Amino acid sequence: MTEPLLEIQGLTTSIETDTGLIRPVHDVSLSLDAGETLALVGESGSGKSMLAFSIMRLLPSAGRVESGRILWKGRDILTLGREELRRIRGKEIALIFQEAGSALNPVRTIGSQLAEPLRTHLGMTRKDARDRAVELLREVKIGDAESRVRDYAHQMSGGMKQRVLIAMAIACDPELVIADEPTTALDATLQAHILELLRELKEERSLSLLLITHDLGLVKENADRVAVMYAGRLVEEGPVERVLAHAGHPYTIGLWQSLPKARGGEPGKAKLKALEGTVPHLATLPPGCAFGPRCPVFFEPCDQEVPTLQLVENEKRHRTACYKNDAVRNAMKTSVTR
Ligand SMILES: Nc1ncnc2c1ncn2[C@@H]1O[C@H](COP(=O)(O)OP(=O)(O)OP(=O)(O)O)[C@@H](O)[C@H]1O
Ligand code: SF4
Ligand SMILES: [Mg+2]
Repeated sequence: MTEPLLEIQGLTTSIETDTGLIRPVHDVSLSLDAGETLALVGESGSGKSMLAFSIMRLLPSAGRVESGRILWKGRDILTLGREELRRIRGKEIALIFQEAGSALNPVRTIGSQLAEPLRTHLGMTRKDARDRAVELLREVKIGDAESRVRDYAHQMSGGMKQRVLIAMAIACDPELVIADEPTTALDATLQAHILELLRELKEERSLSLLLITHDLGLVKENADRVAVMYAGRLVEEGPVERVLAHAGHPYTIGLWQSLPKARGGEPGKAKLKALEGTVPHLATLPPGCAFGPRCPVFFEPCDQEVPTLQLVENEKRHRTACYKNDAVRNAMKTSVTR
């Protein structure tokens, strides 16, 4: 078996906050193969961005990785020195930040921001980097790239800024792109265009993609595997087709049932069944399963101990962290046959 490109083992990241220590990433284990797209899904506050920042070692100053390993091609990112880390960041692994607007520098042209990694990582001359910046804008399908390269961020629409961020991410031909909610701020049409662009680039460049989204509806078309995160922990993980057809965790089922049918939600439901409540505050988690207070099938063992990810019976790659795994599947008729 070939080694995964990225393998996260038992990762726990904590942040010191005014209300106490929180663990936005708690004992997370995940792997990503070369050429694969993994979607990381969960509601706001579930820890998706903190997981991405942990991988890139870009945590806020109050944050730190408490335990675990992040193996990139077999080497632990957490043990790398500054120089090695700099080489990997941007060149081998690129992050598209969640906030397109604030990720771009307002006082520098798009061209000079695109040229910077080309010069530092690839040692290109100023002129070559500028020419390549224009090519990159073309690659992400920005029209009139020759003149757009002289624009500032404020002269561009939201969709265009998002394309620029993608161009910056692919500039040094990375092997993995982490796209943190690349479409959240965009309308449905632009969202579809950006995802199509990411799919195309992935095919052309045989990239691996970690696609972070709160929208389970985007997963089917855009990912090979899906990992669902809740209150800092993974609660379900497996191949997309399998998880969508046989979701095993009540949270994943709730996310499905909250989706309109037109967006791929559970068919045959006349009304949406909204997922009630919100992700609990990480400083005051309930005992046992963090989803307990929202869970429609909560039962006796659920508030005793935190359930761990276990393989679903007869499955080699589908894991859930729920005490009622099998019973829930039957009771809630989760099978989403589409
Ligand atoms: N700089 C910070 N200081 C303190 N707490 C933080 C900080 N950044 C994030 N958190 C907390 O960490 C938890 C996880 O946040 P994170 O941003 O990873 O969530 P997310 O899943 O990316 O949500 P969203 O979909 O809104 O982007 C939240 O409870 C959040 O309040
Ligand atoms: S472990 Fe219990 S509370 Fe948690 S999701 Fe499963 S059934 Fe619900
Ligand atoms: Mg986020």
